[in-house]
Amino acid sequence: MAFKIEPIHYSVGGTSIVLQPFDVPGSRLVDGAVFPLALELTKTSPGPLTPDEAALALRDISERGITTELLNKHGAILIRGVGNPSAKTFSKLVKASEEGRGRKPYEQLGFSGSRTEVDDEVFSASEAPQHVRIGQHNENAIHTRFPSNIHFYCVKAATKGGESPLCHIGELFDRVQAEMPQFVEDLAKKGLLTTDNYQAPGKESKQFPTSWAGTSAFGQDIRPGDDIETMKAKAEKQVKQLTPYFKWLEDDLLQTQEHVPGLRRSPATNRPLWFNSVASRYRFAKDIGAGNPPYVGADGQSYPPSNYRYRDGTQIPIEWLARLVDITDDIVFNFTMSPGDLVLVNNFLVSHGREPWYEGERRILVSMWDTDNPEERIRDY
Ligand SMILES: [Fe+2]
Repeated sequence: MAFKIEPIHYSVGGTSIVLQPFDVPGSRLVDGAVFPLALELTKTSPGPLTPDEAALALRDISERGITTELLNKHGAILIRGVGNPSAKTFSKLVKASEEGRGRKPYEQLGFSGSRTEVDDEVFSASEAPQHVRIGQHNENAIHTRFPSNIHFYCVKAATKGGESPLCHIGELFDRVQAEMPQFVEDLAKKGLLTTDNYQAPGKESKQFPTSWAGTSAFGQDIRPGDDIETMKAKAEKQVKQLTPYFKWLEDDLLQTQEHVPGLRRSPATNRPLWFNSVASRYRFAKDIGAGNPPYVGADGQSYPPSNYRYRDGTQIPIEWLARLVDITDDIVFNFTMSPGDLVLVNNFLVSHGREPWYEGERRILVSMWDTDNPEERIRDY
């Protein structure tokens, strides 16, 4: 499929820079726009484009409203052509781009994975083991709070596997509506109940080495030397920002329950969106061998159908989840990032995932941003 998009020319600080659209294999056409939009940054004057020059360019197009317009239209933008792949380069580029359009860093809360801050507003992507697939999800859509944007950057690419697939959740909504209208109707009516279990510090699982005391979960105020009761009291204060429904179980395991809608609308176009994580939850169970009765995985854990619930406590039929996973696989843009690739993602239009990798080292970084402007927040369905 070929898409015709005009190059963007401009001059910053005496340097002429061109944002040249290019075709990426596997890109899709959604709502009349190419998804994702791919832009090569080049300089018309001699010498390579430096991260500082690229940052000036990205800040400029953000200040002029172009970044927001493109993210609302295309869902995701791949930017290629900036040298020196590093966390520092990513930090420079992403801050220029997001600060330029008035966005603020997203304050992480309730994150059940594991991440490390490696530079200013830059974190490691999920630290889950490399053989684990992370299915399609909108960042923190299982929670009542989530970022408007999650951006990705590649420092090192695996030599086998390790793709970073993206899915347009407008296209996904349309497909589910066409094939399983009852699923859409039930989800619209009932919403979702998400249950999360957070291990106590020191009792983290090998698969997802994280606890409720992590600084991106509920440990923001916990200080060295706090005893367990103080830690729990501090964590509870954070939990209450997400949900009033939580309890402490045996071994100081924290269980939270949240009510989330599952369907939303784009703030830019009002188009309906499939904004949730039910596909990735079922995908995880399926990958571990627990997709069918008796729903026990290779890890010996049980992944019963009752894990997938509507807000009223009733179950989502397993066959609908299986079909949802197939539809998602059918429409994803499956992409292997190269070192230096920057992918700006509108979390309100596009979900993301991660494929397992088998050879080489993969180092992908993320940066999450948010907006206070109610006009830019995702809408109710
Ligand atoms: Fe994610």
